[in-house]
Amino acid sequence: MALTIGDTAPDFTAQTTEGEISFHDWLGDSWGVLFSHPRDFTPVCTTELGYMASIKPEFDKRGVKIIGLSIDPAENHEKWAKDIEETQGTAPNYPLIGDPDFTVAKAYEMLPADVSGDPTERTPADNQTVRNVFVIGPDKKIKLVLVYPMTTGRNFDEVLRVIDSLQLTANHKVATPAQWQQGDDVIIAGSVSDDQAKETFGEWESPKPYIRIVPQPSK
Ligand code: BEZ
Repeated sequence: MALTIGDTAPDFTAQTTEGEISFHDWLGDSWGVLFSHPRDFTPVCTTELGYMASIKPEFDKRGVKIIGLSIDPAENHEKWAKDIEETQGTAPNYPLIGDPDFTVAKAYEMLPADVSGDPTERTPADNQTVRNVFVIGPDKKIKLVLVYPMTTGRNFDEVLRVIDSLQLTANHKVATPAQWQQGDDVIIAGSVSDDQAKETFGEWESPKPYIRIVPQPSK
């Protein structure tokens, strides 16, 4: 079974564009986003890496470290970074993991265990399953896994929206409804009895007994 919500994010040591890292040490007590790419110099991924650089302040604000991965040596990432800056206006301002021996991609179950050989002989399509987004909590547990097709650029604003929901629901016994955005009403968690809810929230709107709507609690 693939890695899923609640699993511990596999730890690893790897070369990145910012030197060698041990992943769990690098995360420290922060939240993290690991997003992966099949090969360097691929068009959709070029746009994604540039966009992530442009919205990194949004991740910083939320206490989230971001890190990319691509199945090429870290030295190639440095050359790709120049193209990303030239074409997207922002070079990666976060580390990009080199994974030429597929160690990290395999640990995160994005490639089968029997993949081997020269990574530069593989086409991006050979690695098309290496297009995931993992959100990792300060407890090192996986909180979200998104798997994208190679022809669809990722919506990283959605990743920020999920992080807002995860951080809110980690601190308050609420859940967030469809299309929720920061500041919208929320739903009292099903695990909270009406008596407990009265103590915590006072009153709520209730179109059905199992849907209890309250304003978003402040942080
Ligand atoms: C890309 O455009 O980023 C891409 C192309 C082929 C395979 C994977 C990614």
